Amino acid sequence: MSAFRLGAATAAYQVEGSVREGGRGDSIWDDFCRLPGAVADGDSGDVACDHYRRWRSDLDLMVALGLESYRFSIAWPRVQPDGRGRLNARGVAFYRRLAEGLLDRGIEPVATLYHWDLPSARQDAGGWAVRDTAERFAEYAALMADRLGDVVTQWITHNEPWVVAFLGHAEGVKAPGIRDWVTALRVSHHLLLSHGLAVRALRAGGGPDARVGITLNLAPVHAASDAVEDVAAAARLDGHLNRWFLDPVLRGAYPPDMVELFERSYGLFDVVRAGDLDVIASRLDFLGVNYYMPKRVRAEPRRAPLGLAEAGPRPPVTAMGWEVDADGLHALLLRLRRDYGDLPVYITENGAAFDGEEVVDGRVEDPQRVAYLRDHLAALERAVADGVDVRRYYAWSLLDNFEWEHGYSKRFGIVHVDYATQRRTPKRSALWFRDYIARARNGGAQVADQRTGSASSP
Ligand code: FCB
Repeated sequence: MSAFRLGAATAAYQVEGSVREGGRGDSIWDDFCRLPGAVADGDSGDVACDHYRRWRSDLDLMVALGLESYRFSIAWPRVQPDGRGRLNARGVAFYRRLAEGLLDRGIEPVATLYHWDLPSARQDAGGWAVRDTAERFAEYAALMADRLGDVVTQWITHNEPWVVAFLGHAEGVKAPGIRDWVTALRVSHHLLLSHGLAVRALRAGGGPDARVGITLNLAPVHAASDAVEDVAAAARLDGHLNRWFLDPVLRGAYPPDMVELFERSYGLFDVVRAGDLDVIASRLDFLGVNYYMPKRVRAEPRRAPLGLAEAGPRPPVTAMGWEVDADGLHALLLRLRRDYGDLPVYITENGAAFDGEEVVDGRVEDPQRVAYLRDHLAALERAVADGVDVRRYYAWSLLDNFEWEHGYSKRFGIVHVDYATQRRTPKRSALWFRDYIARARNGGAQVADQRTGSASSP
């Protein structure tokens, strides 16, 4: 088995559709999409890419692209509609067929347990703001290890808990749409606690082959100027975005500067109980990193609690307005090794949305995405040459899909989806990626050298 694998990622709510099929329960994203004005054009994941019904041909497409690994997420409300108690056998069967279908095709299944679709019944009971949800999540994790552990050995507990906690509960731009910092901070702790509990459950139930990690959205943070205020603002955003999650998971402690800042604004961070941080710091097999862009900030004292504002990105930017900076991936990977040690890294998402991609004569030319992937893979290769232990890379995303509050207006796929017909058309970037994977397999890239263990220099 080679050490390095290339693949693509998706998430359940973004691709599956069939939200009322097969005994699935509602999730907070079904609810959020019904709120007027919450999602662009009133879109929802009701149909999405119809992957729940088209999964077989989607797996065949992955084979055609030569993917070695596929990162998908399990919809908690599909397998356990109320988020507690009874499992929905039809939901579990779907993910079993998917995993078996991948294995049959020589593709490694990598399952994320939580890519943002909390069962609505759990939200009604207080959601991630209450500790009970962490315990229910651990039960769900144990059940998945028990039912799927023979076909899935690679597990990711959470996807981007920063986004869930702060975009979902402080800024309210994502489900469940709450705007309250105290709630968001509590949520962040319960997400981390649930991660640690799930790591233990997956190891206990998944057997000796289980490999467990968490996926964080991380970014290098730059100050907009050399002014001390801006430099301090950058340190705060780094504390908020990166260290608030990395430190507890990998060092067993929240960063003291951020605890102090949050407690100054909101009083005691009172949801942390004795022993929680030991659970949160349960040993991991890998760290999942989603990298899209660096952050630039300046001091903005009027904005509580962090006292900062995002500064304008440097061009070029994507259709999301996200700065394109492949060197940022290299810098991030080196920083992770320097500050947190040698844990294997999976790049669990990396990619970009661009406007104006059309199917012409059965083809989609997306030169900007080709350049984006090429430059980020080159940066990854440099990090590997510099000694970082990178084991997986996933393009986000396999398919154009439901991009959360942006609905279907932002296309991240390496494969184009015509939502009216559900026709899939691999974009130029997918064909480029296919060739890159083939070259890597034949030893043509540094990442390939790592597989065979031979030393290489750029
Ligand atoms: C990440 C999410 C993923 C997708 C990309 C563009 O934050 O994990 O679902 O929306 O951004």
